[in-house]
Amino acid sequence: MCGIIGYTGNKNALPILIDGLEKLEYRGYDSAGVAVVSGGKIRFKKRKGRIDVLKDSVRSDNLTGTCGIGHTRWATHGEPSDQNSHPHLSLDQRIALVHNGIIENYAKLKDQLKRLGHRFLSDTDTEVLVHLIDHHYSGDMIAAVNQALLEAEGSYAICVLDQNSPDRIICAKKDSPLIIGEGNGEMFIASDIPALLPYTRKVYFLEDGETAIVEKSGAQIFDRYGKRIFRKAYTVDWDISAAEKAGYPHFMLKEIHEGAPALKRTIFPRLKSGRIVFPDLDIKELLCSAQKIFIIACGTAYHAGLTAKYTWEREFKIPIEVDLASEFRYRDPYLSKNTLVILLSQSGETADTLASLRHAKAAGAKTLAITNVVGSSLARLADNVIFTLAGPEISVAASKSYLTQVICLALMLISSSFTGQKLTDAVNFLTALPDLAQLVIKEQDQIKKLAHLYHSKKDIYFIGRGIDHAIALEGALKLKELSYIHADAYAAGELKHGPIALIEDSSLVIALATYPQLFDKIAGNIMETRTRGAKTWVITTKSGYKRFADMSDHITVIEDAPDWAIPILAVIPMQYFAYYACIERGFDVDKPRNLAKSVTVE
Ligand code: F6R
Repeated sequence: MCGIIGYTGNKNALPILIDGLEKLEYRGYDSAGVAVVSGGKIRFKKRKGRIDVLKDSVRSDNLTGTCGIGHTRWATHGEPSDQNSHPHLSLDQRIALVHNGIIENYAKLKDQLKRLGHRFLSDTDTEVLVHLIDHHYSGDMIAAVNQALLEAEGSYAICVLDQNSPDRIICAKKDSPLIIGEGNGEMFIASDIPALLPYTRKVYFLEDGETAIVEKSGAQIFDRYGKRIFRKAYTVDWDISAAEKAGYPHFMLKEIHEGAPALKRTIFPRLKSGRIVFPDLDIKELLCSAQKIFIIACGTAYHAGLTAKYTWEREFKIPIEVDLASEFRYRDPYLSKNTLVILLSQSGETADTLASLRHAKAAGAKTLAITNVVGSSLARLADNVIFTLAGPEISVAASKSYLTQVICLALMLISSSFTGQKLTDAVNFLTALPDLAQLVIKEQDQIKKLAHLYHSKKDIYFIGRGIDHAIALEGALKLKELSYIHADAYAAGELKHGPIALIEDSSLVIALATYPQLFDKIAGNIMETRTRGAKTWVITTKSGYKRFADMSDHITVIEDAPDWAIPILAVIPMQYFAYYACIERGFDVDKPRNLAKSVTVE
């Protein structure tokens, strides 16, 4: 989704703003813009399309200035165009503003402002904000910003530039992330940590309702009542190289390769004397005292959550419900103080997941966030938090974050309910797991060939039973989002109830067959598709090899593993398949069409 960058210091702001925008590209965008204060005036450029287009257009202009703001826009209100891009300016071009989020009552505010003589140049909700600030301005910009935000309904992270205060940026946030970075005599603002990594690790997270005045000497943060807040700085421990391609052609490929080290980082610090320990969190008490557990997430994180349903319900003997955040928040589920709601999110900023957290808290349920981003809204707002330690995930399509989410859920299970030999076996397996994942990661060539063979298919079907169905769903999601091939995943037992009608000569069916108790059942389903002419690619375990070798056109064999670990090994071939199918079809892996990394609006 949209990205924000801001700089004030002694250096030329423009290269820093452009570099920041490039670091934010991964969030997904369709236009970009910058504004700087130069010679007492605001000068700006905004362009539809890639940042390179903006770069070309600023090259001819001398946009020099030591304080500025930048934005990548992912269109919601108003088509992608130069005019709708940010920054938006007051009509006299004295004030410039960039905004992430949605101003829900913009139409009403726009009407009121029009009646007062304001003239609008774009179709966006954002432009209303800058006019509203302009309308309220009578010498005190921060008061004008606060007043405008009081009247605006919806979500926002904003940066405001005022030509009368040429070294200062005013920023504010509600339901959309904003981070202030402190350098040496210079300050930065960004919607996301990777944009700040080349410059500083010392950051301040702005909370909802807060406003800040950022000047090169530092930031002053105020709460919604205007009271000054003294916030402790947080030191980011992400490595800059983790947010760069490091010789890989795409972040997606790099991040698939980072799966094994990400698993190590997530598992090993929690292994203590043959047990699994989450410091500062009594996970057993939290899980075992609940009468019902919800796991709430979107997209890939939802698929990771689904895998836990199969392993947790069996052990905990309580209902585990896994729900899409966009559904959960509106369906009024029964929640009480005995309910535990687990929110699973790589970014920790997904709007629906955050709204579900608020909904659960308001209903008195206990909450636990599992997220990859320290300082994210989810991490700060939930009662408890567990971090997946995947490192920054830049590729829009999630890969290593799925692995670490699945393993976090498994660690919670093992820590709370395994004892004796079962615990020892699990800990031994966990110790070996990153190396087993590495073995699968090394096997990319076979999958590359399959992608070459099948990349021109119009439809591809994934099937699985039990936990394999949850894994199949992730395989299909990955394939459709990267290659734009229509892909669907079915619970294999459902085929005969409808989907088998789709199977025709040479359809490709990818069958997940890793669960020994269901080998016979899935074998029957695979045969049903083969007899109707389908080609089959079976992903199975060593112990399944014999069973499935004769009924597959292609077979990928992974190590035998307990069901809480199998999704980790089984998903990697499907991640590669999606990656290489995308390359074969000539699309941009790291920038899939219409998608954004962090979905911060509903
Ligand atoms: C798919 C993908 C998305 C995200 C979803 C949730 O590859 O990345 O489906 O998984 O948007 O995002 P987070 O985990 O940040 O809440």
